[in-house]
Amino acid sequence: MTTALITGATAGIGAAFARRLAADGHNLVLVARDTERLRIQATELHDRHGIEAEVLTADLSTDDGIASVERRLSDRKQPVDLLVNNAGFGNKGRFLDVSMADELTMLKVHCEAVLRLTSAAVPGMKTRGRGGVVNVASVAAFVPRGTYGASKAWIVQFTQGVARDLAGTGVRLMALCPGFVRTEFHERAGMGTDNIPGWMWLDADKLVAAALVDLARGKVVSVPDPRYKALMGAVKLAPRGLVGGITSKTGRKYGPR
Ligand SMILES: NC(=O)c1ccc[n+]([C@@H]2O[C@H](COP(=O)([O-])OP(=O)(O)OC[C@H]3O[C@@H](n4cnc5c(N)ncnc54)[C@H](OP(=O)(O)O)[C@@H]3O)[C@@H](O)[C@H]2O)c1
Repeated sequence: MTTALITGATAGIGAAFARRLAADGHNLVLVARDTERLRIQATELHDRHGIEAEVLTADLSTDDGIASVERRLSDRKQPVDLLVNNAGFGNKGRFLDVSMADELTMLKVHCEAVLRLTSAAVPGMKTRGRGGVVNVASVAAFVPRGTYGASKAWIVQFTQGVARDLAGTGVRLMALCPGFVRTEFHERAGMGTDNIPGWMWLDADKLVAAALVDLARGKVVSVPDPRYKALMGAVKLAPRGLVGGITSKTGRKYGPR
């Protein structure tokens, strides 16, 4: 039996990772800010699948929160075999509408936490000669999409670079790049979704199933859906100006402040 630590495990994609990994028999460490929600989820997964599910309350926008997860990941007595850096969010508004404090919080959660948690998890995995890190990025990494897209591009570049540096060690890294997924994300970010066509929406459970197949195949960047694979192919061929015009607007309608 192996152990997976998932950040942002209480909702959306992270909760789908937790459901799937528990069903596959992995013990879990569930990380998010809402302790009550984490406890309910841990009990449910334990009762349904007979796995051990630990609750670790941490706010990854704070140094203390990141440090507490680092401590858990580097505890060699309780090894973590798979780290899923999934916690993330969108700010409400375009560049200059968002306060600098909120921009920096996004970088802390999307970049600093991913860097520090990966750095805490990998040495033990390397010693054991096996392990995996899934960093949840987005297809927004490949197109102009505000500071959110820029932070996700960092995740993709980071993952590709570290995967190269760790080649041959038995530790796999993968950047997971979903398109629009039905989760709490858009509501939390105050984003209207009525200009996102129905065919563009992905299901979180199917996304996770496809992501785990890609991880097993050793992919370093996963865009796990034929619709988005085709779209990303078209993006490479289309004029940059046209792409930027479309991608920077779709699904970025913000409600009143
Ligand atoms: N939904 C999409 O269309 C989409 C597309 C591409 C990529 N993504 C990426 O997928 C990841 C998951 O998003 P989602 O769609 O599943 O969103 P979601 O449903 O809003 O879930 C976000 C999760 O992250 C946790 N979280 C947020 N801020 C946190 C913090 N400061 N510290 C610790 N945990 C935090 C939340 O729990 P608490 O509030 O309890 O902390 C929650 O469990 C994100 O990285 C997002 O950027 C989403």
